[in-house]
Amino acid sequence: MSTQFRWLKRTDYPRVLEIVHDIWEGDDYVPQVFNKWIQEIGSYVRGLFVDNELVGFSRLKILSDKIGWLQGLRVDPREQGKGYGKEIARRMVDHCFSLGLKELWFSTYFDNKSSISIHERLGFTRIGVFTNLYKSVQSPGVVSSSERFRINSLPGRLSGGFWNSWAYYPEGIDSPWQYLPEGLTLTDSKGGDRLILARSIEFGSSLEICTVDSRTDSISADLILFAERLCYNRGHDSLHVMIPQGTSSRVFLENGFAFFEKEDDVYLYWLAR
Ligand SMILES: CC(C)(COP(=O)(O)OP(=O)(O)OC[C@H]1O[C@@H](n2cnc3c(N)ncnc32)[C@H](O)[C@@H]1OP(=O)(O)O)[C@@H](O)C(=O)NCCC(=O)NCCS
Repeated sequence: MSTQFRWLKRTDYPRVLEIVHDIWEGDDYVPQVFNKWIQEIGSYVRGLFVDNELVGFSRLKILSDKIGWLQGLRVDPREQGKGYGKEIARRMVDHCFSLGLKELWFSTYFDNKSSISIHERLGFTRIGVFTNLYKSVQSPGVVSSSERFRINSLPGRLSGGFWNSWAYYPEGIDSPWQYLPEGLTLTDSKGGDRLILARSIEFGSSLEICTVDSRTDSISADLILFAERLCYNRGHDSLHVMIPQGTSSRVFLENGFAFFEKEDDVYLYWLAR
């Protein structure tokens, strides 16, 4: 048996489509993003070939000379359970460190036992747990006093990390603004609570609440409704937010957001060398 681990190219797309065809009941997002993943600067998809046949792959996005984001680990369902997922993850990690990266990050879903097992065995630490909340937006939010909200451009300095879609952008990456397309800051002048909003990196129809910055226990319902109004007026059809474990998600749930399945469902992992 011969194996090879190499960067994937546009010509690998048909085989990639075959591999993901039945993953998540055919609902895998890889077909939508594969061409972007292989074209974008600092983004590479690496695949494992067994006897010249692609069996699986994973994507690296380089966020700085030290930090890399991993995602999109996939193995052909007919080839799963044979150790290929582990092999791809291990080779990708080795490759990332050989490039000089010092920190690798990735997120996975709480019930993805094989992904969790593979990465924990490679030494990844679960560094955060988040609740993934969505709201479908079909009409503008009705806000009682819109005068108190200010819309500004993104701050000149971003402290801390932020989410966009299922990708986390930790502090210290290069030009974080590029991961906040059409980004803006929405501030509640009463109390100073602040949201950073941006178009989704992966799925253009979603407006992402990338950071929630609150002086109190919880932001106001009106701030959420104002974000909903912006979402609708800008032509998005849903809002998405990741709430860190230990932070109340009550105000989101009371205003129409729903869990994907349950709270604390997204695990954020980190590995440093
Ligand atoms: C996740 C995925 C890439 C794994 O690929 P794979 O080739 O089947 O994985 P491997 O055979 O290398 O290893 C799976 C490991 O998970 C472990 N595992 C599987 N089910 C498990 C469970 N229910 N509980 C604990 N461990 C489990 C296996 O025991 C094995 O570890 P071991 O060999 O040390 O015992 C593959 O299932 C896949 O493509 N899934 C769909 C997409 C996906 O979920 N991707 C990950 C997103 S982060």
